[in-house]
Amino acid sequence: MVLGVGPLLCISLVYTTHFYAANAMTGYAWISVVPLVTLAFLLSYLHKYKWDAWRTDGKRFHAFIGVASAVLFLSVPLIFLANINLMLFPAGWTDVRGFFSSLTLGNVFPRYFHFLAASIAVTALFLAGWFTRKGLSDEKMPDGFSRGELRRLFFRIAFYVTLAQLIFGPLLLFTLPHGGLSTALWIVILSGAAVAIAFLWLLGSVVRKSDGRSRGHYIWLWGLLSVVVAAMATGRHLYRETSLAGHRTMIKEQSARFRSIAVAAQMRVDAGLDAGDALGGPPTGKHIFKNCAACHALDRVLAAPSLVDISSIYLGDPAGIVAWAKAPGKKRPEFAPMPSFAHLGDEQLMAVAEYILQEGAASTSDPSN
Ligand code: HEC
Repeated sequence: MVLGVGPLLCISLVYTTHFYAANAMTGYAWISVVPLVTLAFLLSYLHKYKWDAWRTDGKRFHAFIGVASAVLFLSVPLIFLANINLMLFPAGWTDVRGFFSSLTLGNVFPRYFHFLAASIAVTALFLAGWFTRKGLSDEKMPDGFSRGELRRLFFRIAFYVTLAQLIFGPLLLFTLPHGGLSTALWIVILSGAAVAIAFLWLLGSVVRKSDGRSRGHYIWLWGLLSVVVAAMATGRHLYRETSLAGHRTMIKEQSARFRSIAVAAQMRVDAGLDAGDALGGPPTGKHIFKNCAACHALDRVLAAPSLVDISSIYLGDPAGIVAWAKAPGKKRPEFAPMPSFAHLGDEQLMAVAEYILQEGAASTSDPSN
């Protein structure tokens, strides 16, 4: 799990907007990751260093501490994976209400089991090597186990857990929402799976040896496993890239639109248009248009259609603009809905409608445009 910090930092760099959005949506669960990890480590130290002292009296409590730390260690990857999963499906974000509801989106649990199984296999392979080391004295072996038995045990665990991945892996792949599946991804994942089968075949031959000796295959096992892990990590990356591409383009377009609104606002200030209130007298269409200017500009599309567009629709029909402004509909999918301006009253809306038509028409007939 500590090894997860590296990937976590990479993901937060590459997918900053999506990852932090997911973090914010899972709220307390995400924030509690650090205290949970700290507590899990403290409990596991307590479990370890009180091993002898609590063995005779306090056995139950000792077991409880051990289980509690294991549960905490298991909950952290679930929170982490819920976030990684959530960030991939922006379309579902409006329905998410915190950590637990995020678990229903995408396929959190198949990911979780796949990840847990991979962690167990890697740890078991590591321990099998650990109990092969030359420097390790036989007194250091856990009670009742010989070195060979331990090696075999861990090689077997690595073997059967990896075998189970042949179920967890496809389960993960087939429950993934299809939006992000691409040909490149299939090629990478299937190649990874083929290397995984070679890994299993080699590991199987080691497991069948009665002394559990790997006979020079140990380094090959790690080599193959590294290729598998690299292929699976690449596959995940491809999936993320494909499934987020559309949303990323949308963010880019929205940002460009907001930027142009800001530019338009600055241009109005520079042109002294926003000083209209100081002029005195009854508000003219031009002044009332300040209510509309945040979104509508003369011949540029900001957060809404331009005055040129509007006047081409409502030519000779200012009352149509008044009716729309009092109760705007939803016409264009690319824009957010327009708020109602009924509170301005018919008179002011009529004045602004005439102003819009006049400006729009003037701009259309101006040959310099
Ligand atoms: C917050 C942004 C915003 C403001 C402020 C705003 N509008 Fe709009 N307006 C929109 C958007 C967005 C649309 C396009 C809506 C759609 O097509 O779904 C729109 C569309 C229109 C249209 C075209 C309707 C059609 O039939 O196509 C008119 C007319 C209009 N606005 C008038 C006004 C007037 C008048 C004001 C000021 C009193 C105003 N708007 C203020 C966002 C705004």
